[in-house]
Amino acid sequence: MSESKQLAGKHVLLGLSGGIACYKSAELVRLLVKAGATVQVVMSEAAQAFITPITLQALSGRSVYTDQWDAREANNMAHINLSREADAMLVAPASADFIAKLAQGRADDLLSLTALARPTERCPLLVAPAMNREMWLHPATQRNVLQIQADGASVLGPGNGEQACGETGDGRMLEAEELRDALIAFFQPKLLAGKTVLITAGPTFEPIDPVRGITNLSSGKMGFAIARAAAEAGAAVTLVAGPVHLPTPAGVRRIDVQTAQQMHDTVLPLASSHQIFVATAAVADWRPAQTNAHKIKKDGKKISPVFELTENPDILAAVAALPKGPFCVGFAAESQDLARHAREKLDRKKVPLIVGNLGPATFGRDDNALLLVDAQGERELPHNDKLSLARDLVREIAERLTEKR
Ligand code: C5P
Repeated sequence: MSESKQLAGKHVLLGLSGGIACYKSAELVRLLVKAGATVQVVMSEAAQAFITPITLQALSGRSVYTDQWDAREANNMAHINLSREADAMLVAPASADFIAKLAQGRADDLLSLTALARPTERCPLLVAPAMNREMWLHPATQRNVLQIQADGASVLGPGNGEQACGETGDGRMLEAEELRDALIAFFQPKLLAGKTVLITAGPTFEPIDPVRGITNLSSGKMGFAIARAAAEAGAAVTLVAGPVHLPTPAGVRRIDVQTAQQMHDTVLPLASSHQIFVATAAVADWRPAQTNAHKIKKDGKKISPVFELTENPDILAAVAALPKGPFCVGFAAESQDLARHAREKLDRKKVPLIVGNLGPATFGRDDNALLLVDAQGERELPHNDKLSLARDLVREIAERLTEKR
């Protein structure tokens, strides 16, 4: 999935407070700059015990601010100037002490002063906590986190796992890639805020015997990109995935299945509690009528086995037929005559929107082109990376939901 220039034109004010996670922030600066952002770093005194301003200056290409009495600023108001030009302020790592300062509105160093002097409407605050698990779980910290959220801050993480102190638990700062993606997501328009979206993705695998099966070349990338785009747009997303090798997009609930029947049995009970259903999965149309308990062996007589097939349930058609079902979007992966086949599917499955794409041209790739077919007509989403197309599709779906109301 292309991460290139997703933050183009964004100016990020990155604050570091004290903690061993400061070393990850060096990588974060590099990733933000690579994604097209300009990054202005501000460090607390404690942060400088872990990493030097020189490192972050080299990576950001801008001199780092550390001191509220910095004489470089003509008006001597670094705390005002810094946040006036930023699109967002991200504090990573945010120590327990720094979160406590934020909660109390204290302003006794440049970083806390800048956070407080920030115009809250124009320069939102994101906070990535990093601390020992006992410090994170302490009621005082939990109280402070609730307070800063109530004051409008977005809290990213923390993650769970091994800690520098040797303990294991909650409190690790999210990885640099996760923070970059969280920032990218933060800037996306919240077109599906408060909505619930159910998505199927990937191929299914229909076993013949314990080692063989019928499957197809779907990689799941398009469905996973739609799950990410929907989550970025503010939806609560459930992703039912066939066998694929893809990481779960941030904030998405994922349920793994293998066969079409399992996908059907997972999706159907969930469908009515979701407002949108997007069926991107390349579901096998047929499965072997019987599954052999043991591997089928060659018998030496050169007689090939013959398999009887039976039809799988049509998940999309079943969801579309529910009395109070979600807004349904189907996919049509074709090898030719896209518009005709997509329109046939629209009628046959009785869904309001079918998205056509050329299967052999897109399976496994990071790019695609989509043809949207509905009762009104056709609309092409031209060739692009799958994440950009997924965001376009999310916009199309959001518009149709607004029209429906
Ligand atoms: O014509 P076809 O059945 O292949 O239509 C494809 C669309 O239907 C896709 O959205 C696919 O996810 C969905 N589908 C399904 N269950 C099936 C077969 C297809 O949900 N058994």
